[in-house]
Amino acid sequence: MAFADGVVDFRSDTVTRPTPEMLAAMAAAPLGDDVYSDDPTANALEEEAAAVVGKEEAVFMPTGTMGNQIAIMMQTKPGDDILCDPGIHSRSVEKGAASALSGVGFRTVEAPGARITSAQVEEAVANSAFFPRLRLMIWENTHNLLGGKVIPLEVMQAASATARRLGLSIHLDGARLFNAVAASGVPADVFARNADTVQFCFSKGLGAPIGSVLCGTHELMNEARYLRKRLGGGMRQVGVIAAAARIALRDRDRLKEDHEVARFLGERLHEAAPGAVDLGQVETNMVQVQPDLLPIPTEQWRADLSAQGIKINPPFIGVLRLVTHRDVDREDVDRLVAPLQG
Ligand SMILES: Cc1ncc(COP(=O)(O)O)c(C=O)c1O
Repeated sequence: MAFADGVVDFRSDTVTRPTPEMLAAMAAAPLGDDVYSDDPTANALEEEAAAVVGKEEAVFMPTGTMGNQIAIMMQTKPGDDILCDPGIHSRSVEKGAASALSGVGFRTVEAPGARITSAQVEEAVANSAFFPRLRLMIWENTHNLLGGKVIPLEVMQAASATARRLGLSIHLDGARLFNAVAASGVPADVFARNADTVQFCFSKGLGAPIGSVLCGTHELMNEARYLRKRLGGGMRQVGVIAAAARIALRDRDRLKEDHEVARFLGERLHEAAPGAVDLGQVETNMVQVQPDLLPIPTEQWRADLSAQGIKINPPFIGVLRLVTHRDVDREDVDRLVAPLQG
């Protein structure tokens, strides 16, 4: 359903606005100074988040980017390389943070669907005599630039086991981990067992206005708190936002609804613009559209939609990404597709 001001937004799942229940919880939250670990609401959220992903401890972060970058900073040394798929967010769209803040590079591995194999990990490490040392591997699940695809559990298990045997630490960027959970039925802690640190966002499909969390061992999370303060992320009465994040985490099963609306959207687009959507790609809450296969120019479609208060992004690297979330429904999808139907 559109926002109260009539706007419908398919650009991202980050656009959701807090529910009345979240706003009430934010207003009523018990508060304290979180830099002293005195905020009861943030403390409760951290305990709940750590339990859900089966890690010892969690540290609340203002953004997913900060969670990812602190994970990198803690588990690498300047000059190291990170082993990953080339499209991961922490390499490609975090504004060069890993090289600027941690002094590390990336050793990328091309694998269909970002399904890095055990043999690829083995080969990358074997080549290390010539290249920078590999100290960390990063997974992203679901994978944003691949259109919300799930990295299957068996793929993570096989390659992570090899990476661990060869001495690498492993970080999971689970900004949308609960979308992977909803689509696959694999519990979050089972995915998370294949990583030493896990970051997930409350502010994407889970629907909170702000916040992410980094999870791992007690020792790593002590260091994460220290680095968070260094980077200016030590917040004070942060329970104001943690209160909304607790509701988002509690209600995580509702992500299935976003996946159903995304499938409906994919099917409607497939009817209106055959070939522009590969329905096999639609696994979670994202639909990738080939702009050159639409019946009208993308700019015309965007302008028609914009005139009705419906927002979509322009294509990015040749793909137009549409995202479903709590604040769009099937009626909104019908309005989105209508200009393509002639
Ligand atoms: C996979 C992934 N990781 C990390 C982030 C960063 O989150 P934030 O925007 O909270 O910094 C995003 C944001 O879109 C993302 O898609």
